[in-house]
Amino acid sequence: MDQLREFVPWVYLIAAITFIFGLKGLSGPTTAQLGNRVAAAGMLAAVIATFLEQQVAAAWILVLPAIAIGTVIGFVGARQVPMTAMPQMVAIFNGAGGGAAALVSTLEYLRATGAGGASVGEVIAILLGLMIGAVSFSGSIIAFGKLQGLIDAKAFKYAGQQVVTGGLFAGMLLLALVLVADAAGILSAPKELALGLVGLLALAFGVALVMPIGGADMPVVISLLNAYTGLAVAMAGFSIGNQMLIVAGTLVGASGTILTRLMSKAMNRSLGNVLFGAFGAATATKAGAKTDDGRSFREVSAEDAAILLAYAQSVIIVPGYGLAVAQAQHNVRELADLLEAKGIEVRYAIHPVAGRMPGHMNVLLAEANVPYEKLFDMEQINEDFQRADVALVIGANDVTNPAARKDTSSPIYGMPILNVDQAQNIIVIKRSMKPGFAGIDNELYLDPKTGMLFGDAKEAVSRVVTELKKAA
Ligand code: TAP
Repeated sequence: MDQLREFVPWVYLIAAITFIFGLKGLSGPTTAQLGNRVAAAGMLAAVIATFLEQQVAAAWILVLPAIAIGTVIGFVGARQVPMTAMPQMVAIFNGAGGGAAALVSTLEYLRATGAGGASVGEVIAILLGLMIGAVSFSGSIIAFGKLQGLIDAKAFKYAGQQVVTGGLFAGMLLLALVLVADAAGILSAPKELALGLVGLLALAFGVALVMPIGGADMPVVISLLNAYTGLAVAMAGFSIGNQMLIVAGTLVGASGTILTRLMSKAMNRSLGNVLFGAFGAATATKAGAKTDDGRSFREVSAEDAAILLAYAQSVIIVPGYGLAVAQAQHNVRELADLLEAKGIEVRYAIHPVAGRMPGHMNVLLAEANVPYEKLFDMEQINEDFQRADVALVIGANDVTNPAARKDTSSPIYGMPILNVDQAQNIIVIKRSMKPGFAGIDNELYLDPKTGMLFGDAKEAVSRVVTELKKAA
């Protein structure tokens, strides 16, 4: 067993390399699956090595069933969850990671103080692991509840909110400082009580932090909480002296931070605005009001849409969240094949935050074997809309809203959008005139160039396909 233990640092090193390889792989749709598998294999090797190194083998009766239960929940959960519910699944798994880091930190504090006291450095690492982990845990549960519809997704606001949130944060820090002073021998504190209060205040702070954030910003918050979990895990690694946790936690912390930044940038919002801007609190009530003021929209039939498409030379398809909900990707592919068979150029315009998570649309279209070279990022294709005969918007809303460009009072003002309004003709497929995730009306639908084809995306696209086949 001792000889085996000598190999553990090497296993950790190799696992760390597989994590970096995995992250690199995840940056492109063609390499993502392989990257994920390689990193997962590295993690499995690291878990087995830790199992041997920490001599937890003696406690196998507890550890093995726990690993088995976790594996089954993870496997079944990941297989069954629909793509549209992926953000909340990430939230709940992320919360579990934060909660685990908080528990490891708590136990380590109790062990270290029981064994004659921990150094100041150790106590700081333990407290950071506990506080960040607990904030991530409770914040992720709230984010999950909002996205799953268990809690009202609107931004929750009340008078004096900032004072309460600030008070929770200050109280948590103060008690943590007391415990650090205790470790330094400056004072003698009731350790367990103070530690318990730090944990409770951190949990309450996580709730207070996420409740005022509207559902539309939840994916950004989840990514931020993911970064927090990474930091908490790294801190837990410092306190129990496990290099693997430090490396894995730091990688998660760094990649979560980068992703948070990318998402905020794609929405042209600062992180401060996401966290404290209460986006979606006031605007949601306005939803769907505009069409009553006399301005009308033009409804088209599947036949009209098919005729318009059949006479086009260049079509740009704009996929959005609704396409994902309806699982219309295979029908869209069929439609594109039919158009291409007529010599029509078909391309897809992918907005960085279309759908509910980064890369949502790419994954979806890849599932229907849409060639990657037909998928264009916003910057690559935005100039081409003016030359497109038809922009076919399928279940996308906010990412096409011209208000982001010109209406300074709009909550999405400044968010870069796809220039759908510049196309010669526009067809929008959605079920109603209801707003999208941001809860605001879209004046694109009132544009005389726009024809609204109402219906579920899958069913509406197949109606258009039937009409195109009839005409062929
Ligand atoms: P949304 O603006 O949410 O619009 C989706 C539209 O799809 C809705 O207006 C809805 O209208 C329609 N729809 C829903 N189910 C449908 C179905 N079965 N068939 C046809 N249409 C259906 O989506 P988007 O344009 O993709 O924009 C994404 C939003 O999420 C943005 O606000 C973005 O900021 C936010 N967000 C995304 C991310 C990432 S990383 N992707 C991160 C943070 C925030 P009907 O109800 O009338 O059908």
